[in-house]
Amino acid sequence: MSGQGGVGKSLVTDLLAVALGRAGYRVGILDADLTGPSIPRMFGINGRPIGSANGILPIPSETGKPVMSMNLLLESTDQPVIWRGPLIDKALRQFGKEVLWGRLDYLLIDLPPGTADAVLTVMQSFPIDGVVIVFTPQDLVDMIVRKAINMVGIMERRVLGVVENMSYLYVPEIDRRIELFGPSRGKEMARIANAPLFGHIPIDPSLAALCDRGTIENYDSAIVANLGSALIQALDRPIG
Ligand SMILES: Nc1ncnc2c1ncn2[C@@H]1O[C@H](COP(=O)(O)OP(=O)(O)O)[C@@H](O)[C@H]1O
Ligand SMILES: [Mg+2]
Repeated sequence: MSGQGGVGKSLVTDLLAVALGRAGYRVGILDADLTGPSIPRMFGINGRPIGSANGILPIPSETGKPVMSMNLLLESTDQPVIWRGPLIDKALRQFGKEVLWGRLDYLLIDLPPGTADAVLTVMQSFPIDGVVIVFTPQDLVDMIVRKAINMVGIMERRVLGVVENMSYLYVPEIDRRIELFGPSRGKEMARIANAPLFGHIPIDPSLAALCDRGTIENYDSAIVANLGSALIQALDRPIG
């Protein structure tokens, strides 16, 4: 989760899923953000989930990760979502009970920004192990992160770790890292959250291109593996 939109929540969800998949775990992704089909888009998924007598079948990604998103049930992806809170709440609860994930080691849930209804529903009705908070090194980030942390506390959940996205831009021609949005706030946020910093993700044009092409599962960077092992460590599970 994060307090803001556009900070890379969906991207981090996907990279964590990719990392866990590469480490040999079976991982599913539930997209609980109705404001846009980021998750299906990054995985190149545009089919419609089909129902069976036993439940709703998620759609597999290229590498076979089951993905479920309410965005996949909308008539068209450019249709604005005007569902009201209670309806979203009901649909999410239904997803929790009726999606046929198969056997999974991990289910990652991508939340909408802030403290919307869907966030409350997920925190209340899913047996979550913890929350990963995503932020960028911009103004007001400490206020926004504190809000998210407070909410996690109120819901009696724990913050597993924090991830700083868009930390810097690496320019190979001059072999320099440029901190476009200002100096890193990672350590500070980890202290505020009383949780480990899982990593810094740079602004990477090749990553944005993979997102646009729906091929995020091809992202090849040490950053991915490091995020995954940090998460597994935070969950006190053996790696690999
Ligand atoms: N580190 C990054 N490098 C390059 N592009 C990024 C990075 N993080 C996010 N983006 C781009 O920004 C867009 C918004 O990210 P997204 O994960 O959808 O944000 P959120 O889920 O927080 O709204 C994505 O489509 C992605 O292409
Ligand atoms: Mg998103």
